[in-house]
Amino acid sequence: MSLPVNLPMIGKPRDRVDARVKVTGAARYAAENNMKGLVHAVVVSSTIPSGRIKSIDDAAAKKSPGVLAVITYQNVPRVNQPPAQPTGQSEKGGQQSGGPPPDSGNYAEPHLLPFADANIHYVGQQIAVAVAETLEQATHAANLVRVAYDETPAKTDLLAHRAEATDKGSQQAPPIHVGDADTAFASAAVKIDQTYRTPYQHHNPMEAHSVVASWEGNRLTLHDSSQNIFAVRTTMAKAFGIPKENIEVMSPFVGGAFGSKGSTWPHVFAAAFATYQVKRPVKLWLPRKQLFFTNGHRPATEQRVALGANADGKLVSIIHEGVSQGNDVSDYNERFTRPTRTIYACPNIRAANKVVVLNVASGTYMRAPGENVGMFALESAMDELAEALKMDPIALRLANYAEDDPVDHKPWSSKSLRQCYQQGAERIGWSRRNPVPRSMRDGRWLIGMGMASATYPAHRAPAAARARIDASGNVVVSCGTHEMGMGTATVMQQVASETLGVPFETIRFEYGDTRLPQAPISAGSLTAATVGTAVFQVANELKRKLVELNGGQELAAGDTYGALLHRHYLTTVEAQIDAKPDPEEAKYASHSFGAQFAEVAVDADLGIVRLRRIVGAFAGGRILNAKTAHSQFYGGIVQGIGCALLEQTRLDAHGGSFTNVNLGEYLLPVNADIPPIDIIMVEEDDPHVNPIGVKGIGEIGIIGVAPAIANAVYNATGKRVRDLPITIDKLL
Ligand code: MOS
Repeated sequence: MSLPVNLPMIGKPRDRVDARVKVTGAARYAAENNMKGLVHAVVVSSTIPSGRIKSIDDAAAKKSPGVLAVITYQNVPRVNQPPAQPTGQSEKGGQQSGGPPPDSGNYAEPHLLPFADANIHYVGQQIAVAVAETLEQATHAANLVRVAYDETPAKTDLLAHRAEATDKGSQQAPPIHVGDADTAFASAAVKIDQTYRTPYQHHNPMEAHSVVASWEGNRLTLHDSSQNIFAVRTTMAKAFGIPKENIEVMSPFVGGAFGSKGSTWPHVFAAAFATYQVKRPVKLWLPRKQLFFTNGHRPATEQRVALGANADGKLVSIIHEGVSQGNDVSDYNERFTRPTRTIYACPNIRAANKVVVLNVASGTYMRAPGENVGMFALESAMDELAEALKMDPIALRLANYAEDDPVDHKPWSSKSLRQCYQQGAERIGWSRRNPVPRSMRDGRWLIGMGMASATYPAHRAPAAARARIDASGNVVVSCGTHEMGMGTATVMQQVASETLGVPFETIRFEYGDTRLPQAPISAGSLTAATVGTAVFQVANELKRKLVELNGGQELAAGDTYGALLHRHYLTTVEAQIDAKPDPEEAKYASHSFGAQFAEVAVDADLGIVRLRRIVGAFAGGRILNAKTAHSQFYGGIVQGIGCALLEQTRLDAHGGSFTNVNLGEYLLPVNADIPPIDIIMVEEDDPHVNPIGVKGIGEIGIIGVAPAIANAVYNATGKRVRDLPITIDKLL
């Protein structure tokens, strides 16, 4: 059964149901759990990138006031190797491509048991944890731990070691081989062959990663800032060798994550070891600086894009290859070639991304992992090709419009990219654009306009849900998913309200607790499709039961479900379902698409870039709530602006450390950096993708922003910036 189109409740711009508790401070985040007997843990990190701990002197730390324990590899409780995030490479199965199967773990560093031995793999590796009565005492004790190292030569520079790239990393995008791209490129009439670079970037959610852990007997409770609570539970259950029923993980509010809270990172083990050792609840709240080393980042990349085309603009060859940073403790791989299989029709495509194993902290998913940096390279190259062809950038994209999936030729479940190009171009006034660089001016400012395409796969994973109505007519819908600010709770109430035909206010959506029916990771833009379908199906099932109770009839006018329960002497009626993707869905290629447009002004003498306007037009299937969807697109574009102009974590290749590890020196866009942003939501009815027609919009907003801005900067200045971010020095 599918959710019909044109419903009164669905798509309406409803305010968020969690808005009030957030703005009043009533929402309790992980680190705000303060139970009786709570103590504090502070982590000690390695200061070298490679080698062994020669000795740890914790005598002074242990004698320091209030200290309860100092845990190192010498006294850590022995646990089993925790399971990693499973990986899958099909478009609709496996990690982030449909989500992990139920009961998978998600340990971020599967080749490093936390605190297991004296080996050091990167600067910032967690090597000890001090536990004390107060945060100040724990911080002081951590500072008193003296570590001596035997240092060994480290590899920290991506470009210096690019020749050593390997296929390591089970999260590599599947290599693409269609036709013979190299031969076609060699004989192409018009060619572009360029190298693009993207820097390390950090998620920097406002809420730092934090956990409050407590053991009671053989039960472990975790208040964890997480976007994947069930996988945290499985990870800890396997590590500690206890049944997962003995573990409860709660994550009712998450203050931003962007992928950085999708894995179990070492600090969760640090807290679990600490509470195990001292038999008191332990709070571990990572300082901002430590977040830069032990909770993931977007790895730096170097990408080659070679495009060959006929004189009419038809692509004959796409080659996309290159490297990103990896390390020997994680399997993360920045799969930047993934969009290359989707975005343009071309008879010859070769694409593969490799990893260079360095002594640098572990990378992880960061909003549109792969697509964001991959599309910077590909869409910059498309602009360069348009310039070489003397062709309009939109016309070039339309000439290569993929009418079906370019690699396996599955039909699209829906695709409205043409409408995105057309509506976006109209809104920004693309016809005003002069294609000749440096030809548009406003006083001292050089004006430029640029655009880029966007695409992100539509994923859905299995999820369970429960719905219960009571005799007063109130409905509780439950699913152990997460709300990181996307609007999940609000749209789920809308779906349940619409499906049951009861007022929005009578529904409450419960989430963020492993005692609830099981949900997958909230990532890969899959939550609305995944949990939305589960909620739609469980509401249908509850309605079926209620209709059955009513003698097979819908409620008569004026009757209510509450009254129906009263008539049958029932206090509640409940339904529970397991929603699983239908194999029919895999017959189609399902992707969200979009088109991004930027207008920039560049100071002709100083190279300062000022954004004048951004327009993003998106088609992501059904929109469940116009207001929260607008915020998702808007937030994605703001993060894309950061990626284009500001964000970069600098790595000191000599010492192997990230250096600008605070919000003063890691530049993020502030309000003054953000121009007027127009969001166009192109209407799209997708009957194939899943029963509710939702394709996912959490990540598509960031994709294409950086190349649209880079292309606009080229149009303004004639300078092609191929390494992000676009800073003044690159324009002088
Ligand atoms: Mo995300 S990077 O899928 O949270």
